Amino acid sequence: MKICMIGSGYVGLVTGACLAEFGMDIICVDKDKTKIERVRRGESPFYEPALDDLIEKNIKEGRLSFSTDTKKGVKTSTVIFIAVGTPAHSDGSPDLSQVEAVAKEIARSMDEYKIIVLKSTVPVGTGKWVKGVIGAELQEAVSFDVVSNPEFLREGAAVEDFFRPDRVVIGAESAGAIEVMKEIYNALYLIEAPFVITSIETAEMIKYASNAFLATKISFINEIANLCERVGADIHDVARAMGLDGRIGRKFLHAGPGFGGSCFPKDTKALVHLARGHNCEMEIVQSTIRVNERQRERMIEKIEEMVGDVGGKTIGILGLAFKPNTDDMREASSIPIIQGLQSRGARIKVYDPAAMEEAKKIFEDVIYCKGPYEVAEGSHALVLVTEWNQFRLLDFERIKGLLQEPVFIDLRNVYEPLHMRELGFRYCGVGR
Ligand code: UDX
Repeated sequence: MKICMIGSGYVGLVTGACLAEFGMDIICVDKDKTKIERVRRGESPFYEPALDDLIEKNIKEGRLSFSTDTKKGVKTSTVIFIAVGTPAHSDGSPDLSQVEAVAKEIARSMDEYKIIVLKSTVPVGTGKWVKGVIGAELQEAVSFDVVSNPEFLREGAAVEDFFRPDRVVIGAESAGAIEVMKEIYNALYLIEAPFVITSIETAEMIKYASNAFLATKISFINEIANLCERVGADIHDVARAMGLDGRIGRKFLHAGPGFGGSCFPKDTKALVHLARGHNCEMEIVQSTIRVNERQRERMIEKIEEMVGDVGGKTIGILGLAFKPNTDDMREASSIPIIQGLQSRGARIKVYDPAAMEEAKKIFEDVIYCKGPYEVAEGSHALVLVTEWNQFRLLDFERIKGLLQEPVFIDLRNVYEPLHMRELGFRYCGVGR
């Protein structure tokens, strides 16, 4: 089967490379020439475990190719995935201009039956709208189907998630298109991944509802964590015991500096916006967003409670990416925390194992260090913002010796409070 993936960003590239691994013939298209040249050399334009190897292998075996020519991609493929960006407008609504432009280009290049699959996260109703856009732009009467096939890939574990998904969601109107989609994901069918076949609108809603629910779980546990601090309870044990209830589940109950990334902040806002357009208030999701913003401010207060006035002091930050195993800085909690500390007069030293280059596009006036020990040197406090594995086993004696004050603020609850205090640190976590 020949598949064209339009948009070689995060979602497009992971999906393209993984489908090639399933044995499909994939052409990944992107208008960014430099990006295409880079991936052609087998290099992923962003940091994602296992992706480079997958790209290189599938290029070598002839199943994965890259192009800047959408027309060529569309003409040579039966199935066309749209995986372009849907960034947020200032009012929270997603900007669908890239989806629209691609839909029109597909229509202009179509000369026989095609299946157009929406992989990008788009508001409910977009599938139908894309159908209309293509229909209006067609040069000749060609039949086509539109399918919604949302992705649920976690950055940093995207390849693994692709091959072992919790479910595959296919929203379509035509039985023929559903069969083709099942064929594409046949390898997952064989490992008994659940398939949810539904209408286009329902598939679109599943994606938003899932992400909003996960984000709500995080904001919920962060609120409980803040109360734990006031009443002397430990969120670590509270979350564990809650999670042991099968109805609640253990995942996404880690208290911390709030959620970031390319999905949760954007998708929660988009859902609230979508609901408003239908005269519906999403009160829980709105609170989830507010609690998340408040949690970042709370982290700054926490640092001040430990350090005192941060003006003129040096604060060392460990981890910048919105989560480990990625270089993605989009909506990272480190951004408002660092900016908040700077506006209070703090000097900032930072280190992240992968996101330093991305961070340089955001912060100019911070000191970029080569590792955690350089960050600690001369700092008045060390703040762990992203829980990279390599920060789990630090030489704390050395760190204590390098710091001006033995203050450690652990925003991800990685370390054992008692142990840190025994080591001589003034330590605090979140909700413990
Ligand atoms: C998410 C969804 O998990 C994925 O299904 C979706 O399609 C895309 O968005 P991703 O953004 O890559 O994936 O990251 P995820 O691992 O879900 O984490 C999101 C944010 O929540 C991170 O900032 C993370 O640190 C934070 N988080 C997560 C918590 O603060 N506590 C938790 O318990 C879990």
